[in-house]
Amino acid sequence: MTEDLVQKHFHKKADDFDSIYTGQKSGIARLLDKWFRWDMEKRFQRTIEECGDVSGKTIIDVGCGSGRFMEVLQGKNPSLILGLDFVPNMLIIARKILSEQMADNPCELATGDFNRMEFRKPFDITLAIGLFDYIAEPLQMLKKMRHVTREKLIATFPRAGTLRSAIRKVRLSLYKCPVYFFKPEQVRSMMEEAGFTDIQLEAFGQLIFATGKPFL
Ligand SMILES: C[S@@+](CC[C@H](N)C(=O)[O-])C[C@H]1O[C@@H](n2cnc3c(N)ncnc32)[C@H](O)[C@@H]1O
Repeated sequence: MTEDLVQKHFHKKADDFDSIYTGQKSGIARLLDKWFRWDMEKRFQRTIEECGDVSGKTIIDVGCGSGRFMEVLQGKNPSLILGLDFVPNMLIIARKILSEQMADNPCELATGDFNRMEFRKPFDITLAIGLFDYIAEPLQMLKKMRHVTREKLIATFPRAGTLRSAIRKVRLSLYKCPVYFFKPEQVRSMMEEAGFTDIQLEAFGQLIFATGKPFL
């Protein structure tokens, strides 16, 4: 039920979402993004930084959306980047971006709900950026991520208790899209319970940027 609403939302909003990256919107909208969504740019930079040297590595980007992280990572010589999203319209954009970039690229795209998919092998790095905002059962998803991650999880969680989170909740409720918010201690305890260790949390803007290694 929750998943259906999220899927419907991003089905309609795929191009709008990607325009946050491309800046293809009105001048006022661009200015608002600069003021209120600067943390998206920082989370992008931090994610790429945290991935480190991905040469020869395998990466799964859960909820890859329009593929903007894959676009950058594909040039760093990974052996595979699997982008997974349950909204086909997002993957249409991703496919266009990725195939425009390189002939022999390491990217694969798959449509589906991460919670319902089986993977033959684990991945070195799991990305979950801007995903937990829409996940009703985050612990269950983190457990599955632990299962498929060999080296590192890099994830973001929207912060609870800010004025912007309240405004966002109202705004998304107008589109009938559920959204969830988290406190740092909640993120830490969920990650621990899911089997991650060496957990690092960093709060900036409206989000919590989290990394963790699977507990062996
Ligand atoms: C806000 S977008 C973030 C996209 C991308 N990670 C980024 O930061 O640019 C969240 C994406 O997660 C996808 N998503 C949400 N729940 C999912 C699930 N259970 N399985 C696969 N994709 C999911 C949505 O379709 C949407 O494209």
